[in-house]
Formats: sequence, C-alpha cells, structure tokens
Amino acid sequence: MTASQKPLASTPPMGWNSWNTFGHHVEESVIREMADALVSSGFKDHGYEYIVIDDCWSIKDRRDGNGDLIPDPEKFPNGIKVLADYVHGKGFKLGIYSDAAEKTCAGYPGSLGFEEQDAQLWASWGIDFLKYDYCHAPLFDQEVAIERYTRMGEALRKTGHEFLFSLCEWGNQAPHLWGRKAGGHMWRVSGDVFDSWINIWMKDWNTYGIGVDVSIDIANDLHEYGGPGGWNDLDMLVVGLKGKGQIAGTGMSFIEYQTHMSLWCLACSPLMIGCDIRKLDRDTASLLMNREVLAVNQDALGIPARRVKQIGPCEIWRKGLADGSMAVAVINRGARGEDVTIKARDIGLFDAPKLARNLWTQEDIADFKVELTQRVQPHETVLLKVTS
Ligand code: GLA
Repeated sequence: MTASQKPLASTPPMGWNSWNTFGHHVEESVIREMADALVSSGFKDHGYEYIVIDDCWSIKDRRDGNGDLIPDPEKFPNGIKVLADYVHGKGFKLGIYSDAAEKTCAGYPGSLGFEEQDAQLWASWGIDFLKYDYCHAPLFDQEVAIERYTRMGEALRKTGHEFLFSLCEWGNQAPHLWGRKAGGHMWRVSGDVFDSWINIWMKDWNTYGIGVDVSIDIANDLHEYGGPGGWNDLDMLVVGLKGKGQIAGTGMSFIEYQTHMSLWCLACSPLMIGCDIRKLDRDTASLLMNREVLAVNQDALGIPARRVKQIGPCEIWRKGLADGSMAVAVINRGARGEDVTIKARDIGLFDAPKLARNLWTQEDIADFKVELTQRVQPHETVLLKVTS
C-alpha cells in the first residue's frame, strides 16, 4: 500500500505546528520556509507530513460580507490557497485551526454556527487538517462538547474533501470516549504541554501548564483508548524550544527531551514539532529524527505502551510491535541515577530474549539473559527493542 492509499491516521500523524514558536506571529513566509526546511533537513524523509497553521491566521474582528473567514492580508498576502499549493508541491499536507465557539483562544473568529461554511472554505483552499480548539466553550458539559465536535466532524465530511480532524478539548470531557464517533482522528488529553519537566502554575490563565512528568501518568491512564484511526494526543512536542517561544517554560535538558520524545513515541501520540527547524541544532535533530525510535511510534499495530512495573521512582513500560517484538522502556522519574533490573518475566517473557537493542544509541545489547540491569540517569528513559 502506498502512503496515499493508507487509511487516514492509521499511524499517529506527524508534522509541524506553528503555535509553540510563533504564537500570534504566524505568517506565509514562516510556513514556506518551514516547508523548505522540513525537506532540506530530512524531516520529510522521516515521515513528518502535516504543516499546521495554528491560531491567529485570520482577520481578528470580523468575517467578510458573505460570512467567510478572511486570511489576514498582512500575514498571508497571497491568501491560503496559494500557500496550500506551495506546501502540497513540496509533498506536505496543510492544516488550519479554528474553535468550537464564537472565538478562538487568542480571540479570533471561531466556527460555532459557521461549521459548514468554514469547512467548505477550507476545502476550497485544499486544506487537509483541522485543529479544532475549545476556548470560550462550556468547560464541563460533555453533551455540548460532543454536539459541537460532531457538528464540525459532519461538516468536514460533507465537503467530500479529506480532512484529518484534530480535537483540542484538553481532555476535560473525556474525548477519548467519544472522539472517534465525532469524526476525530486525534484528541488532546491534557492542557498545553510546556517546556518543563514539572507542571507550571500560570497565574494569568488560572491554570497549569503541563509538564512531561505528569504526561507520563496521563499516557498510562489512557493507553487503551488510542489506536489506528484515533489517537490520544499528548500535545505538540516541545523538543528544541529551549525555554523560549510562545510556549516558554523552564526549558528541559537533553535527557528530559529524550524522555519526552520516548514517551510520545511509546504512547502513539501524534508527533507535531513545535520548534523552529530553520535553526536546527544537532541535538534537536538527533531527538526528532531517530528512525528506530520513530518506528516505535509509527508501528503498524498502533498499540500504545503501558506501565508494567514500578520500582521506586523508576518504571518499566512495554509496547507490543507488529513484528512480534516489543519496545521496552525504563523511565527514571527520580532525582538520582538508578540501576534498574528488567526481568524477562516483567515484560511477559519466560526466557531470555534473542535480541535486545538500545534504540536511542542504536546498539545491540549482548547481556540480556533472564534479566538486564541498566543505569538510568535522573529523568532519563532507556528505550529498548526486545525480540524473543
Ligand atoms: C490552546 C491550545 C493550543 C493553541 C492555543 C492557540 O491553548 O491548546 O495548542 O492552539 O490555544 O491560541
């Protein structure tokens, strides 16, 4: 089957999203340059496919005389269709953003009451992906959320054009239970993930920015709900932000970014890069483009990993893979380096595995007998592929 024949979102969607770095300042040149850089730096070859324009792309205070959304002419002087053609010409798909209320999170027009009209407009531009946010909507009314997302899901379907539908409701009303039925292919399971290991209290927003440590528990709690065609979305990647950008934070270390990437891959989360890849450094490239690690995320079975054992601050996780092997991870959430022993039976084996390989270093490990001890640094994840 070629990529274009694969059912939509049969593996977790991969791409780049404007919000984490550009926030309110997304514009045509940024998107074009990002498309160019995604090709020249090798991301396209590694499977990154969607380029998503997040909030703040339209005129802020009005629709046009027909009620259509208007791309901001200062940010998008040639409109969105021309940009979509450019992005498609480079082999990518283009995503756009709206909100299931009167306004988006940043206060731009939302799509409530305009679902069909907006869907038709995006289809006419050749848009392939909609991220649909939930600011200014009733926060704790599941019925309303289901109704609003279903309405947009139907409007997208009615266009006859193929859209990947990304629900951004932050998990408040359990979208893992109804997201697929509403037409969704992925649903956010938390608030915005910040460039931070621990949650950050944000006074102005009266909410927490989510840290990677907490995402570990969320991913485990919801593991059974993700699968081909519908994925738990742990949020955009903060790898490479280095504490800067729209989604600032304390900034994480290389090891913490590696755990972040490991978890997103194990959990079958969509992988949406958030950093400015025009200014790519070697560490960031190595985290975002390790083929063996990405293969865990893109594995055809699409079974999210789960925690199988807890040893003090450390956890062992397991994810079955399509070739009969498994990904096994040891995550150290504590503040000290630990020696962690994985026993064959912890990961469902009766005997020593035939093969074990460290996926980050891409080295085979010779000494996995009936158990294997690994040194795991604070906040580090050792990620293995184990074949029995
Ligand atoms: C919310 C979403 C973010 C981003 C912003 C845009 O916070 O969760 O991912 O889309 O809105 O305003």
